[in-house]
Amino acid sequence: MIPWTKKYEPKKSTDILGQELALYKIKEALKLKRTILIYGPTGTGKTSAVQVIGKELGLELFEISASDARNKENIENTIGNSLAQQSLFAKGKVILIDDIDALSGTKDRGGLPTILALIEKTKHAIAITCIDPWDDKYSKLRKQCLLIEFQALKKENMFNYLKNIADAESIQYQEKDLLDIIKLSKGDMRAAITDIQTYSITKTINTEEKSERDREESMQYCLRKILKSKKWEETINVFDKVDEDLNECLLWLDENLPKEYNAEDLKKAYAYLSKADVYNGRIRRWQHWRFLIYINMLITSGVATAKKETNINATEYTRTMRILKLWQANMKYAKKKSIANKIAEHTHTSTKRAIRDSLPYLKNILLQPETIKELQLDEEEISWLQK
Ligand SMILES: Nc1ncnc2c1ncn2[C@@H]1O[C@H](COP(=O)(O)OP(=O)(O)OP(=O)(O)O)[C@@H](O)[C@H]1O
Ligand SMILES: [Mg+2]
Repeated sequence: MIPWTKKYEPKKSTDILGQELALYKIKEALKLKRTILIYGPTGTGKTSAVQVIGKELGLELFEISASDARNKENIENTIGNSLAQQSLFAKGKVILIDDIDALSGTKDRGGLPTILALIEKTKHAIAITCIDPWDDKYSKLRKQCLLIEFQALKKENMFNYLKNIADAESIQYQEKDLLDIIKLSKGDMRAAITDIQTYSITKTINTEEKSERDREESMQYCLRKILKSKKWEETINVFDKVDEDLNECLLWLDENLPKEYNAEDLKKAYAYLSKADVYNGRIRRWQHWRFLIYINMLITSGVATAKKETNINATEYTRTMRILKLWQANMKYAKKKSIANKIAEHTHTSTKRAIRDSLPYLKNILLQPETIKELQLDEEEISWLQK
């Protein structure tokens, strides 16, 4: 299966949407054989732009990606050779050094000085792409390049592009679904196209599930912040943007604390959680909503600052199952109790007694049509009795 970002990749510069000014600058700079540093958010067309404009200008593209240019020797070998060979037909060359963030992020930092040396030496146009050029380590590079910015894509630009793909692939969708995908992509066209391809398996786009996945991801992020950081001010607002109530957050923490904390730290953190739960009960009983502030504080900064040691290993957090099981058991018990209540009323005894003495033995009798009618058992109660 080919990725749709490849299948629907821009073939000419007019296929690249929302970056008109940047495209113009790239074209002019490449004509003048200048070195450009193209930067901006991921999936906005930086790499595609160099590829299609290079082609339109009749330049031979010579591409180095982070993976094949890990170190000095590699870069020198690959680029050096290419520069020596003179293409007979092309008007010139453009060297594309793609994703320089990834390149200099590797341990051997040999790459960057080699690139700087290459810029000095070569007469060809060089296009470098990256996401964030403002790191100090790029200060020399920035001075040697013309900086060209790419913007996160706007909704209008993405909508028609995605609609065309969905239509071409005969996928069912509603406008709202496309808009949801666009919103989640935060202006990243690659992400949006990939999402649509994922939905295409069922031939329909339905963003409900996706937002479930999104919620899960944001919870992973929050827990990582709280359980890995020790800073009060870094953690206090963690749950502000999360679309879960504090109860749910508390359950996630309860489930995952032991994966991150040990001994004294764990004890202290659980003490905070249980205190939060006490406030929780007070809110429910007395509607003291102000206590929400304390709960939030206890389960964010409280838990974060409870630790002396930070677990440096990566941890995958899980949703709690235990509480769900307790809840299911409670629901079952609730049915039992409501039936016992009705028996108790009719036989002038206590509910407790009815649960103990009558219910286990009377199931079949209770299921007789007359009894059902007399006790006014509802469907859920009947199905409980039938189990
Ligand atoms: N502005 C755009 N107009 C149309 N399609 C786009 C645009 N930007 C990205 N795409 C789509 O996304 C795919 C990936 O784009 P591209 O590789 O050029 O992004 P990028 O900015 O280089 O991302 P990264 O920073 O992750 O390398 C393209 O093949 C194309 O399908
Ligand atoms: Mg790229």
